[in-house]
Parts: sequence; structure tokens; C-alpha cells
Amino acid sequence: MTGLRHFLRFKDFSRKEFDYLFSRARWIKEQFKAYKRYWPLSDRTLVMIFEKASTRTRLSFEAGIQQLGGSAIYLNTRDSQLGRGESVEDAAEVISRMSDLVMIRTFEQTVVERFAAHSRVPVINGLTNEYHPCQIMADIFTFIEKRGSIQGKTVTWIGDSNNMCNTWLQAAEVLDFNVHVSTPPGYEVSPEVAGLHGTRHFSQFSDPMEAAKGADIVTTDVWTSMGFEAENEERVRAFADWQVDSEMMRAASPEAIFLHCLPAHRGEEVTADVIDGPQSAVWDEAENRLHAQKALMEYLLLDEVSQ
Ligand code: CP
Ligand code: NVA
Repeated sequence: MTGLRHFLRFKDFSRKEFDYLFSRARWIKEQFKAYKRYWPLSDRTLVMIFEKASTRTRLSFEAGIQQLGGSAIYLNTRDSQLGRGESVEDAAEVISRMSDLVMIRTFEQTVVERFAAHSRVPVINGLTNEYHPCQIMADIFTFIEKRGSIQGKTVTWIGDSNNMCNTWLQAAEVLDFNVHVSTPPGYEVSPEVAGLHGTRHFSQFSDPMEAAKGADIVTTDVWTSMGFEAENEERVRAFADWQVDSEMMRAASPEAIFLHCLPAHRGEEVTADVIDGPQSAVWDEAENRLHAQKALMEYLLLDEVSQ
């Protein structure tokens, strides 16, 4: 690894780097499960900036840095000068002089990009309107644990072409798998926003059942993401037929797993029998945020570590 690195978009890392991170996450997880102390980041401080709500992201980053021997500081818009108009650039200059690593959850992707451009330390995207790279890293790690390599496999995305969908599409280009997307009319993917090079790994389907055929992963997300609450009523109407149910899971491969980044709304984007059923891997997926992000933080601060 050369120079200061950030993880702002999935494609900031190469396939080789993800191979390293997935194997590292597996090792870090094994140490954790065996109650083995592993403190490579002692005396390191992570600053977490939240401009949107979170349960999993805060918990996994805060617990993760502590389990690696470091500590975390939580800042939010309401209680910091960020909410009173201090510029992102000034905040980055100051925060990065007092910490070793920064994680940001915010609205526009340009905010994390501007922060990173003025930061002395690595910056991690903890979700923006456009992308959620830490979640997709954990999702793919979960698939690899259960089914092996994701290369050449098919991921079916049902619902909104949101930050999760964009990041799956970007990951498909980096790791060479296919994504079938089915969205309601008017909510289609923007290849430009998703940051795609082409359409080789990506097909759009108007019929969600067609999209699900033969899938190795079926995945979805809330119909209304954070920041889009004003559109909720309109979205509930538009997305009614884009629900993952048991019929859709039957169209997928018999070995398919169901993933959801959570929080979920049973009876909207997914039925209870699917998310609570035998093909669902959502709890392992949520737990794997912890292990995958520990590997990420270690990599950004210490480069490759031999075990
Ligand atoms: N999946 C996820 O990022 O969850 P939180 O919003 O709870 O952090
Ligand atoms: N797409 C959702 C993901 C939440 C983790 C949102 O942005 O609200």
C-alpha cells in the first residue's frame, strides 16, 4: 500500500486488496471467537462522525476499534460545530490532527470526498446517499464464508437503486460477478451515480421474478432510505410489487442466501418468512460488519500484516 489511503467507494480497493481483507477478516474473527486478545491498534483513536442515525455502523466501528486495542470518539452534527456551519474542510484539518482514523456517515458523497481531501489520516465512508462500501464488504465476506468465491455468481437486487444497490454494482466490476437489478419504473439505476465503467456485470429487469431466476444471493433494502423520508408515501405505492417473498426465493438457486443490510421492514421490502427463514443470513451479515471493518481499520493503519 502506498501513501495515505481512504475507503470512500468500493472501487478504491483492488481485487487483490479485497482478497487480503477477506482472509484477514476471517483470521480476526477466529481470534475474537476464541477470546484471544489482539491489540495491534493500541493508542490509536478513531473519530466517528454521524450526520444520520445508526445502530450497526456505530456499534461495529466502536466495538471493533476497542477490540483492536484502540479507542473511539463519537461526534454528531447536533452536538458539534459541523451542525453550526463549520466547513467540512476546516473540520477535516482539525479532526485529523487529533486522531488516527476517521469514519463518516453523511448525506452527499462529495462531503466524504471533501473531508478526505483535507485529512491527514485515512477516511472511511460509513454510508452516504450514494454508497455503503463497508456494508457490501461485510455482505461479500458473508457469502464467501457460506458459499466460497463470489466470482461469476449472480446477485439479485430488488427495489430501490440506492446506496446499497450502487455499491453492489461497483463491487461486481471489482470482483467480477453479475448483478440483476429490478426497480419500479422511475427508480432505475444511474450508471453514472453508481460510478460504473460499463454494463458487462449489470442487467436491469422490469419483472422482479425474472431478475431473481437462478440468483446466488437475493437482496433488498428499505424502500425509503435516510434523507428521503419526504417521499415515503409515494414510494410505498411505487414499490408494492418489489417485495422479496418465498415465491421469489424459489425462483433463485436452491442454494441462494437472502441478505439485507438492516434495519428491515417486514411486510414491505421483505416478508417475515424470508427474513426469518432458513435461507436468510442477515444476522451473520450484521455480525460480519465487525470482523470485516476490523480488517479494514488494521489495513488502513498498518498495511498488510502477516499473522
Ligand atoms: N446496515 C447499517 O448500516 O445499519 P445502521 O444504519 O444501523 O448503521
Ligand atoms: N439504504 C439505507 C441503508 C441503511 C443502512 C439508507 O441509506 O437509509
